Amino acid sequence: MRKPIIAGNWKMNKTQKETKDFLTELKPMVQDAACDVVVCVPFTDLTLAKKMLKGSNIKLGAQNVHFAESGAYTGEISAAMLKEIKVEYVIIGHSERRQYFGETNETVNKRAAAALEAKLKPIICVGETLAEREEGRTEEVLFTQLVESLKGFRSKDFDRIIVAYEPVWAIGTGRTASPEDANKSIGFIRKVLYTKFSAVIGEKTRILYGGSMNASNASALMAQEEIDGGLIGGASLSAEEFSKVVHY
Ligand code: 13P
Repeated sequence: MRKPIIAGNWKMNKTQKETKDFLTELKPMVQDAACDVVVCVPFTDLTLAKKMLKGSNIKLGAQNVHFAESGAYTGEISAAMLKEIKVEYVIIGHSERRQYFGETNETVNKRAAAALEAKLKPIICVGETLAEREEGRTEEVLFTQLVESLKGFRSKDFDRIIVAYEPVWAIGTGRTASPEDANKSIGFIRKVLYTKFSAVIGEKTRILYGGSMNASNASALMAQEEIDGGLIGGASLSAEEFSKVVHY
């Protein structure tokens, strides 16, 4: 069985002071969680968060990683740098990275390969835009993103790969995909994993939903058969709200 994950993506939010206050509040609230709990924090908060999460059930994630080992890549962070802090997860190919920072399926694939090489757990994001959905191209877009972003990965890599389905039109808009629509797209993603990789990979890979998921819609989304968890943006910034999602 696939263990559910609720992961917070803080995006560009929280100073160290705010991180300290937030995690102090969150830790006791989720200590009995039945799912994996992850917080993906800005690079500048990682060291402090790691220290604060020692001995707790909350796992730590970053929001990006570069594919090179080191070198002239101003503003980037390597997998070894994340490993040193004992980060466990890393979000790769978030639609905001694709939209504002020129990430492509190819760079997503290279970043994910570097993450896997370092034994990090990549949370690889895919999802269609509103225009693509309205043109009836959702499945075509998801197929291409998956095949190109996951290119070359082997069966054992999928012990660590997590896929997040984040329809771009649902991110930060308050407009959630209906549980049925989210389930259908995630079911399609699983089918692609089955057919392009293997039945075992389709069965074992955890696929999360992301896009305006919050305390009031989490249980309906999590009740869907194909949905293995959530990648939570806005609702992960308040400890109280995030803990309610964790306890969906
Ligand atoms: P919101 O939950 O704010 O819509 O963001 C979703 C997201 O992008 C998580 O990665």
